[in-house]
Order: sequence, then structure tokens, then C-alpha cells
Amino acid sequence: MGKLEGKVALITGAARGQGRSHAVRLAQEGADIIAADICQPIDSAGYPMSTLEDLAQTVKEVEALDRRIVATQVDVRDSAALRGAVEQGVAELGGLDIVLANAGIHGLGSPEPEQDKLFRDIIEVNLTGVWNTVSVTAPIMIEQARGGSIVLTSSTQGLTGRGGDGSGAMTGYSAAKHGVVGLMRSFSHWLAPHRIRVNSVHPTAVDTPMIANEPTSAAIAQSPTFGQALSNLMDVPMVESIDISHAIAWLVSDEARYVTGIALPVDAGFTVK
Ligand SMILES: NC(=O)c1ccc[n+]([C@@H]2O[C@H](COP(=O)([O-])OP(=O)(O)OC[C@H]3O[C@@H](n4cnc5c(N)ncnc54)[C@H](O)[C@@H]3O)[C@@H](O)[C@H]2O)c1
Repeated sequence: MGKLEGKVALITGAARGQGRSHAVRLAQEGADIIAADICQPIDSAGYPMSTLEDLAQTVKEVEALDRRIVATQVDVRDSAALRGAVEQGVAELGGLDIVLANAGIHGLGSPEPEQDKLFRDIIEVNLTGVWNTVSVTAPIMIEQARGGSIVLTSSTQGLTGRGGDGSGAMTGYSAAKHGVVGLMRSFSHWLAPHRIRVNSVHPTAVDTPMIANEPTSAAIAQSPTFGQALSNLMDVPMVESIDISHAIAWLVSDEARYVTGIALPVDAGFTVK
């Protein structure tokens, strides 16, 4: 018997990368999954987002574990559409116990006029999108009155800002990810009386399509400061998605039943470097 047997988990950004890994890891522990992902490009980001094929692959991997999954193409910036997707998943799967606000983008050093748009887009996805995700789901969990656990994906950039270069990309990412900590702390106060825990995770660089793509690799090679944002205390350049998934599987389980309001780095020592 898995430690999440009978639970239902919403995961945003579930089509690939960490989101898919979390879906599979939680399904291994017995959870059913509501998967949401944009599955189309965000032009200012400058690298590819997921596709519908990616989302279909997540569905395949969860179903291979004999768990149920309801997957929807939806943009976390659109709270009405997100509400529709969540309500459909809740109706089909019988409730909601776990929320992973994982969807996010980073940006590349695009030309000056684009930096303003990039800053706004990053804030809109990485901060407002997290606010939307919790605002849509927490009332459902309160109404159910069976407690729950919410994990917001921030970053080491949400604790340090190291490698900042004044660009809309780096500044927007760091500001949004710091903002996620504010949301986490504020939500944890609001939701504790309902036995709903809220925490954030702060990965260092993770080997996912967000980083492992051609435009990003080229930007890292050219930037004098990007390297600082990608250097850990332990001798590992990037961690794997599963390293974050293991931490989340613990955080959302009853083993962490009195853990709320914390910012948990999974960062090979990056934060203390
Ligand atoms: N990869 C890293 O180095 C790293 C490090 C620290 C934190 N993070 C954070 O981890 C989270 C997961 O990223 P990842 O590494 O798996 O990257 P990824 O690009 O592989 O996955 C992110 C997913 O989010 C989706 N997405 C983006 N914008 C969306 C939107 N508006 N609505 C719905 N879905 C959207 C993408 O389509 C993609 O499937 C992000 O919040 C990211 O900022 C990543």
C-alpha cells in the first residue's frame, strides 16, 4: 500500500520535466492525478514549451501504474479555464487532496524591448499562475474538510537571486520565485485551521527541457553571470527531476503531517554556498 493511496493530486506543468516526474512518483504511491499544462509556445520565453504529445506521455506513464489521470491543456494564467479543468478532474476522481503548483517558465536574454514583456510574462506565469492555482483549489479543499497539502515550486533563485544581471529574464524569475515564498507563507496561515499544509520547494538547476535545450545552452555559454546561477556546493552540475519528486512525495504525505510554512531547498548546497 502506497503512502498516498486514495488521494487525488493536481499538478500544473505536468506534461514533461519535473511535473511529469511528480505525477509518476505520486502515482507510484497510489495517488490519482489531475494534470494541467499549457502545451503550446510562450513566445517571449525563447525556448519550447511542452506539446500535447508530452501530456499524452504523462497520461500513459500514470496509467501504466494503474492509476487514474484526467489531463487538460490549460494555461495557469487563465483562472476561469483552470477552474474548469480542476472541477472536471475533481468530479471524475472524487476530490482533491494535494496541489503541486509546478508550472513555470524562465527567460533568455532577448533584445531590450522584449525584456519588459519577458519580465511581465514571467511574473504572470510563475507568480500569478501560482496564486491562481491555489485560489482555485483551496476553497474546494476547505469545503471537503479532509485536510490536504499544497507545494509551490520556487527555486534557489527564490532564496538568493545569485547571478542577477538586471535583465528582465533573471530579475523577473528571481522576483517571481521570491514572491512564491510570500504566497506560501501567507497561504499557510490561511489554511492551517483547515489542516491544509502549504510549503515551497527550491530546486537548484534540474536536468529538464527548461534547461536542456539549445537556446538556453547557448545563453548559458555566452552569459558572464548565468554560470553563477548554476553552480552547486556539492559536485553535481544539475540534479534530476526525481530528486525533487522524492522530496515532494514526503512533503505531501502524512509523514510530514506537521510540516507547514517551510521553504525546502533541494539544491546540493547551492543556497549555503
Ligand atoms: N529546471 C530547472 O533548472 C529548475 C530549477 C529550479 C526551479 N525550477 C522550476 O521548476 C518548475 C518545473 O520546471 P521544469 O524544470 O520541469 O521545466 P519544464 O520546462 O520542463 O516544465 C515546465 C512545464 O510547465 C508548463 N508551463 C509553462 N507555462 C505554463 C502555463 N502558463 N500554464 C500551464 N503550464 C505551463 C510547460 O509547458 C512545461 O511542461 C518550474 O516552476 C521551474 O521554474 C526549474
